Amino acid sequence: MSKIKLAFIAMLSFSGLISWSQHQINCRYNVIPRPEALIPQKGSFEITGNTKILYFPADREIEGVANFFAGLLKNSSGMNLKVEAAVSEKPSEGNILFVIKKIPLGDEGYRLAVDADKVTLISSTADGVFYGVQTIRQLMPAKLESDGQGENNPMTILSVAVEDMPRFPYRGLHLDVGRHFFPPEFIKKYLDVMALYKYNTFHWHLTEDQGWRIEIKKYPKLTEVGAYRKETLVGRYTRKDQKFDGKRYGGYYTQEEVRDIVAYAKKLHITVIPEIELPGHSLAALASYPELGCTGGPYEVATVWGVHKDVYCAGNDETFKFLEGILSEVIDLFPSKYIHIGGDECPKERWKECNKCQVRIKKEGLKDEHELQSYFIRRIEKFLNENGREIIGWDEILEGGLAPGATVMSWRGVKGGIQAAKMDHDVIMTPGEYCYLDHYQGPKEKEPLAIGGFLPLEKVYSYDPVPEELDKNEAKHILGTQGNVWTEYMATTDYVEYMVYPRACALAEVGWTSKEYMNYDDFLKRLEPNLERLKVMGVNYRPLDKNQKKK
Ligand code: ACM
Ligand code: ZN
Repeated sequence: MSKIKLAFIAMLSFSGLISWSQHQINCRYNVIPRPEALIPQKGSFEITGNTKILYFPADREIEGVANFFAGLLKNSSGMNLKVEAAVSEKPSEGNILFVIKKIPLGDEGYRLAVDADKVTLISSTADGVFYGVQTIRQLMPAKLESDGQGENNPMTILSVAVEDMPRFPYRGLHLDVGRHFFPPEFIKKYLDVMALYKYNTFHWHLTEDQGWRIEIKKYPKLTEVGAYRKETLVGRYTRKDQKFDGKRYGGYYTQEEVRDIVAYAKKLHITVIPEIELPGHSLAALASYPELGCTGGPYEVATVWGVHKDVYCAGNDETFKFLEGILSEVIDLFPSKYIHIGGDECPKERWKECNKCQVRIKKEGLKDEHELQSYFIRRIEKFLNENGREIIGWDEILEGGLAPGATVMSWRGVKGGIQAAKMDHDVIMTPGEYCYLDHYQGPKEKEPLAIGGFLPLEKVYSYDPVPEELDKNEAKHILGTQGNVWTEYMATTDYVEYMVYPRACALAEVGWTSKEYMNYDDFLKRLEPNLERLKVMGVNYRPLDKNQKKK
């Protein structure tokens, strides 16, 4: 990449454009995540009612990206631009041209040139064109993001030359809808904002002790019973003196809603990875089908947070039949290569006392309950592999032996990620210390109640997903990073947004931008205008502290 960038900058220097170093002091170019090479130019391109959005070749995917951009313009300015297939890849004056053509910037990179006469955006893939459009958005006034205020207002794009590609192929944001449930419209808004920052994966945590959130036709009680808890703990989780609100709480996504969200994400070039938790965090499922727990129940959908000791019985073949039935419907709903199967925080005490689980341990020649967990995960992996999918699991799946093809999501620090990469497994880095967006982002006394920890914006920004312990080949297994959003203490969509933004802007840059260009002060300069944009989008971000403002 460096070679490409150097050649690119040299080419632009010959053509008399402004230098790279000047970009660093130029605050008008507020692109997040920071592109590999961005060279400002004088002037801007004006979009008028006569501007066409052209695409080449005539391909459905690139047409979709052109329509996405036209949609933004129509919503905000009222301009109804013509979107047409171009007859060639040659730019035409006064128009915006998107081209798919092989260029040496990987699968997601793009080349963008904006001058007063024309806009040309090229990538090897429609994904790359989509990311180029996100850059264009950020080179336009924030009012582009407004809704329903159109008065045929012209819009401008700052002149620029960009070559860009991401550092990592996996750039994820997660959302726990088990502890609190958020409606489909909010999930779409969450995806909208992710797209703006070039996130490409939404990890949808759909099942929990406190609520099962996805309709499964074969097992209707999962949502009739498991989607609702009788009440919710008030205030911080304690074991003693617990107070409850006395209000039934719940909700779930119908399969129709799930399909609609997955299709919506696809238009934003975001893959949705569902998480179906097993063998732990399964109390809502056990409340619905108590025969699948070691004790047979009865169980209740959890009303308090923390880790619960009732988990799926690993000795009962009916458990696997049940999970395979669920996963078959999940596979049908989600086209993602990966299915996340959880695997975290599974207490072993019920298995120790369960006759069926102990028989399984003996029969399979397993050493202990950790190996029983490994047996559980391997069996599920085999089923998913047979159905063309791969598993991701939290780093506990390393205990008792890692399933052969599993990708590990390292959350209890980076140790699990390092271990897995050294074992030739792929890894997604999401250590609590840098990536848990449920942690406090300011002094506890000044912030709304959160689970704990302290993760200010600068610390998120400082994260490097590739641990020093890995050599070059091992480091290739680090697919990327992800922000996790656990919602025990986030009961409203406003509060989710407050916790996620702007920290997710910082993590977007961690996932996209080369290490050599990471610079927190420069990021802060670009962030402030981005917050204006988020405001227009109606995002309830956390305002910057005084010492974070860069004027
Ligand atoms: C987790 O935070 N329990 C993965
Ligand atoms: Zn059991």
